[in-house]
Amino acid sequence: MKVDAIVYSSTTGFTAEYAQMLSGSTGLPAYTLEQAAEKLNKKTRVLYMSWLMAGTLVDYKKAAEKFDVCAACSVGLNATSAQAEATKKSSKIPDKVAFFALQGGYRPDKLKGMYRFMMKIVTKVLIKKISAIENKSENEEKLIDVLQHGGSFVKAENLEKVLAYLQD
Ligand SMILES: Cc1cc2nc3c(=O)[nH]c(=O)nc-3n(C[C@H](O)[C@H](O)[C@H](O)COP(=O)(O)O)c2cc1C
Repeated sequence: MKVDAIVYSSTTGFTAEYAQMLSGSTGLPAYTLEQAAEKLNKKTRVLYMSWLMAGTLVDYKKAAEKFDVCAACSVGLNATSAQAEATKKSSKIPDKVAFFALQGGYRPDKLKGMYRFMMKIVTKVLIKKISAIENKSENEEKLIDVLQHGGSFVKAENLEKVLAYLQD
């Protein structure tokens, strides 16, 4: 196995779901960043998973300071390769760190304060943008619905590349 543990940060639960799924299929322990800070040391090889906020991987810097982050996963509403490149750049994730972009979901009822307010604006902009696309893909159609009502893209198949990397 390429890492010793999975460490994650999650605000509404989608990243936590992916982390638990990966833990179940690999046998690797999964810890929140706070738990990991108490249990793991700087030499622990870690897969860090977190949600995307305004294009950056939340708390990547903190994780990279505390552990040997060998791989990272972003969990966002979108998971395009262009977005993945932008995330690596804005979060200062070096090329030696394997990077995977996963699609999470939207749970407006679980968002609080500033996050809730920001997402209200973002969803409006995104719905307008995606609605204007001609010949929308299945994913784009679903994204409009998820942005309007909440919903999840989490599924085991999305983890295939991460699993292949871990078990290589
Ligand atoms: C304030 C805020 C900003 C966000 N910015 C982005 C973004 O830039 N790109 C994206 O794909 N998703 C963005 N999202 C969506 C979350 O990344 C998505 O809902 C994710 O699945 C949340 O994961 P969690 O449930 O583990 O917290 C944003 C969400 C919030 C609340």
